[in-house]
Amino acid sequence: MDIEEQTNVTNDALSNLLHEDRSFPPSPEFAAQANATAGLYEEAAADRLAFWERQARELLSWDTEWSQVLDWSNPPFAKWFVDGKLNVAYNCVDRHVEAGNGDRVAIHWEGEPGDSRTLTYADLQREVSRAANALTELGVGHGDRVAIYLPMIPEAAISMLACARIGAIHSVVFGGFSAEALRSRIEDAQAKLVITADGGYRRGKPSALKPAVDEAVAKSPSIEKVLVVRRTEQEVDWDESHDVWWHDLVDRQSDQHTPEAHDSEDTLYILYTSGTTGKPKGIKHTSGGYLLQATYTHRNVFDLKPETDVYWCTADVGWVTGHSYIVYGPLANGATQVMYEGTPDFPEPGRWWDIVEKYKVSILYTAPTAIRTFMKQGEEIPGRRDLSSLRVLGSVGEPINPEAWVWYRRVIGGDRTPVVDTWWQTETGAIMISPLPGVTAAKPGSAQTPLPGIVAEVCDEAGDAVPNGHGGYLVLTEPWPSMLRTIWGDDERFIDTYWSRFEGRYFAGDGAKKDDDGDIWLLGRVDDVMNVSGHRISTTEVESALVSHPKVAESAVVGASDETTGQGIVAFVILRASAGDGGADVVQELRNHVAKEIGPIAKPRQIMIVPELPKTRSGKIMRRLLRDVAENRELGDVQTLADPTVMNLISDGLSKGS
Ligand code: WTA
Repeated sequence: MDIEEQTNVTNDALSNLLHEDRSFPPSPEFAAQANATAGLYEEAAADRLAFWERQARELLSWDTEWSQVLDWSNPPFAKWFVDGKLNVAYNCVDRHVEAGNGDRVAIHWEGEPGDSRTLTYADLQREVSRAANALTELGVGHGDRVAIYLPMIPEAAISMLACARIGAIHSVVFGGFSAEALRSRIEDAQAKLVITADGGYRRGKPSALKPAVDEAVAKSPSIEKVLVVRRTEQEVDWDESHDVWWHDLVDRQSDQHTPEAHDSEDTLYILYTSGTTGKPKGIKHTSGGYLLQATYTHRNVFDLKPETDVYWCTADVGWVTGHSYIVYGPLANGATQVMYEGTPDFPEPGRWWDIVEKYKVSILYTAPTAIRTFMKQGEEIPGRRDLSSLRVLGSVGEPINPEAWVWYRRVIGGDRTPVVDTWWQTETGAIMISPLPGVTAAKPGSAQTPLPGIVAEVCDEAGDAVPNGHGGYLVLTEPWPSMLRTIWGDDERFIDTYWSRFEGRYFAGDGAKKDDDGDIWLLGRVDDVMNVSGHRISTTEVESALVSHPKVAESAVVGASDETTGQGIVAFVILRASAGDGGADVVQELRNHVAKEIGPIAKPRQIMIVPELPKTRSGKIMRRLLRDVAENRELGDVQTLADPTVMNLISDGLSKGS
């Protein structure tokens, strides 16, 4: 998005946000028992590195102490806890058993069909040890890459921890991504093993995963073995040369495994996220700093009390939220958590609230898109369940509009729970900007304040910090422990994408505003990345998928605002002359094609077949005008168009077509 477009979007959003004066201070009872106090801000401001060092000592178990907290001698390449050694899986599992908490439930797993499993920390230790032994038997070692393509079953967390335990690098690929998306991620990381399942349950039906793996693996020479969990018992094709059943291999392993200490800067995982080009970026996270910030934020932002809380994060492990706030943060804190396999509305819309009631969930972390869906369904549905166990609510993934925030607190939180709106990214690894529930007087719709230890700023085009009451770009001005270390195999892209826009500072790609109190409001992406139901999808990625279809000559994709999903994908497509009018089902055919190329989450909400696209004289597509069309607005300024009549052609074509 160019600056002119960006400014328009920002101003529109700003004008809606100028008058939020509701404030929800913590109750004295909550504040009195909270993990975090206002003193944390002072401590971190006085000496940020000493603050992180204290957290590292108190929250994690290290085999070898670091010689330096932060090495920033070669920016933007950071090293945290230099020379320190630890085992991430030991921190997440074994140490809780050693501390006498082996009987504490780690995971209350709930399958979509209603089956369930309970894993204590002692169970988890045995399972992770077996899986680690199995990986070793398969020839996976320190530094090798393992692709994980699983539904939301305990084996997902177990596989990740088993990799961490032996120092292998996992690359979790969301189970909703296509075979092609899986293949390209396997190739980029040169993974040698895929861990998958026959399928998982989605909306009451088994949904197959193995066929996509078969398709991807057929074109992935780096893959040596495929380890398959049996979940749905559906038929699968089997290739004896590389397919191995989890229950055959893992179940016969010893449940003893001695964790070795790994370097603080050893790579823990790669997780791919959309950038502004068609090629997803492999975000690289390392061990010590990442685990520290995931653990610290999980403890303080959610006020976790491991002995009494039941925590539930509704994300999928395929996204960063699942990495940091289902696997690493909660388990390092010794939390008891719920893990749910399926969709929120199966067998009926109250399923989530049944789960909250059944397990007495006390901390719930979810996304605005889900909250807005529940708002539409009405308060009677949650109203029929006992939600009185809830005491902290969290939101992540996209800006939460103040009305959804207030509804969440009132209807789900019984008008009593703090709500924390947490801003962060795959790249930041952990929460960066958020209220602290026992400290901050919360303001609906605003993520408010950088956490203690984090330094953020909103700056203008020239890189100067904006005064209160103004908008600009969100930047992070100091390195933080869980920051991405690079883009896998592409240091240049890492520098260009994040560190070149503003010298020496991290450019997040989000627009933001500081209100009169200096609180930060996030305004959405300022690049060509859409946010659909909290998932990042690049316009270019969808455009490439569309033009790979034989009927398509050219396409332009925009994110149009959508009441429920935040943004919806709208595609404008010019057909090839040879395709004629494309046939009656062309729109459906193209939507399915995108789902096949990328995954169902990237399916355009709307596809408009048009004769031309609006371009500047230099040939750049003017998405701003297309967004006007997609959002049914009057067209903005068309003067920079090479051919100002194009927009008439488009609207004539559309009105004829409809
Ligand atoms: C957006 C998800 C507003 C933002 C953890 C960011 C948010 C992108 C918030 C990262 C929030 C995330 N308020 N916007 N609380 N949280 N975002 O990598 O645009 O999937 O850049 O990480 O989501 O998405 P990602």
